[in-house]
Amino acid sequence: MPKLVIIYGTGSHNTEMMARAIQEGARTEGIEVVLENVNDANKNDIWDADAIAVGSPNYNHAMMPTVRKFLSELADIDLSGKTGLAFGSYGWSFEATEGINEILASRGVEMMADLCVKRMPGEDDLEECRKAGVLLARNSKRMEVLYV
Ligand SMILES: Cc1cc2nc3c(=O)[nH]c(=O)nc-3n(C[C@H](O)[C@H](O)[C@H](O)COP(=O)(O)O)c2cc1C
Repeated sequence: MPKLVIIYGTGSHNTEMMARAIQEGARTEGIEVVLENVNDANKNDIWDADAIAVGSPNYNHAMMPTVRKFLSELADIDLSGKTGLAFGSYGWSFEATEGINEILASRGVEMMADLCVKRMPGEDDLEECRKAGVLLARNSKRMEVLYV
C-alpha cells in the first residue's frame, strides 16, 4: 500500500492544523498515512515512504530549528523518486517552506507547489490542505507503481 509520511513543527498549532487536514485528505484515497510532530518523528518511517510532506511555520525568517535538524538527519536515506510537499503557516514571509522545498528537491524529491497559509487556517484554507493531501496520495500511488 502506498505510504505518505507527514512531519510538522509548530509553535501555536496553525501548521499542525494544516498537517491534520492534509492527513484527512490523503486518507480519503485509502493509502497509509503517518502523521508525526517533528519532536516525536522517527526517520525510519521515511525510508519506505512514497510521499513525504514536511511542514514548518516561519519564525525569524527561517524554518524551525527542529525541522531543519530532522531534514539533516535524512542525509543517509535515498529520497530520490519520492513525491513531496513543503507546507506551513506564516505571517509575512516564506523562508520556511522555501527552505524545505530546496532541501528536499536537492535530494531528488519531486516537489509539488508549496502550500502556505497566513496565520490560523480558515475553512477554505483547510479545504486547500485536504486537496493537497488527495494530490499527494494520488502521486504516491503513481510513485509506488513506478518504483516497485
Ligand atoms: C517570534 C515570532 C517570529 C515570527 N517570525 C516570522 C517571520 O520571520 N516570518 C513570517 O512570515 N512569520 C513570522 N511569524 C509569524 C508565524 O509564522 C505565524 O504566527 C504562524 O502562524 C505560526 O505558525 P504555528 O502556529 O504553526 O507555529 C513569527 C511569529 C513569532 C511569534
